[in-house]
Amino acid sequence: MYRIKTLNKISGIGLKELDENYRFTEELSEADAVLVRSADMKSLELGDNLLAIARAGAGVNNIPFDKCAEQGIVVFNTPGANANAVKELVIAGLLLAARDIVGGINWVQANKDAEGLSKLVEKEKGNFAGNEIEGKKLGVIGLGAIGVLVANAAKRLGMEVYGCDPYISVEHAWSLSRDVIHVKTVEEIYRTCDYITVHVPLMDATKHMINVYSLGLMKDGVVILNFSRDALVNDEDIEKALASGKVKKYVTDFPNEKTANMKGVIAIPHLGASTEESEDNCAVMAVKEVVDYLEKGSIKNS
Ligand code: MLT
Repeated sequence: MYRIKTLNKISGIGLKELDENYRFTEELSEADAVLVRSADMKSLELGDNLLAIARAGAGVNNIPFDKCAEQGIVVFNTPGANANAVKELVIAGLLLAARDIVGGINWVQANKDAEGLSKLVEKEKGNFAGNEIEGKKLGVIGLGAIGVLVANAAKRLGMEVYGCDPYISVEHAWSLSRDVIHVKTVEEIYRTCDYITVHVPLMDATKHMINVYSLGLMKDGVVILNFSRDALVNDEDIEKALASGKVKKYVTDFPNEKTANMKGVIAIPHLGASTEESEDNCAVMAVKEVVDYLEKGSIKNS
């Protein structure tokens, strides 16, 4: 009998895979395995029984790796399982930056009870004109599961797509279609792209990668999209770049006290993976990883 502790709501479709060999526990101290989404585990005491943690998602910056290494706990994630959901939100982000959809919605809401609204709309609509993304250059930094899907989708929308990834394997690099992605260095992406989207994990090497230096290399009026992790972008530097017009829009699903108040920011909650389909996919993959490890000792995506 194995005891499972869930630290967030995990989709029932995944949990259904746990048979009579498993029971759920409220106590982390007695759990054999943990299923977690975004809960920060860094300050939690991990019990002596704990053998595995499965993160139902891609990023693992909420997992205490040092403690896991000391205690011999295997950590899994679910790469690719939520990639389509994130891709769709990033494409929405591109369109939100290019067209003044947010301004238009806010205006209609603010004037919804105005007399003669339909006539007023005709008069005002010129204030919400935008741009098309077709033909514009998109730089995708990070060519993992999400980055590649974003690149392909943007290409299908007519964008010229550039990609880079310092950690890409030779095998993966060869598998990328050159019709879709022209691989460049990160500096070339900074210098040439109209839209730049980051799809990298948060680690020492990537923390604040969007900073005064990288912003300085970018084209005037660039749009930055960050649906990965808040700390990839230096808040003070993006604030100055927005104020000077260097950055036209900063679109993110990691608003904080500072960025949410900046002009030129389009911010929504961290919703990239929040679709029913993606939550099911992540839960199924995470549960399978735990079961395979506990029952057969097999390790995939650790
Ligand atoms: C991920 O790391 O998988 C995504 O950012 C979504 C999430 O945090 O659940």
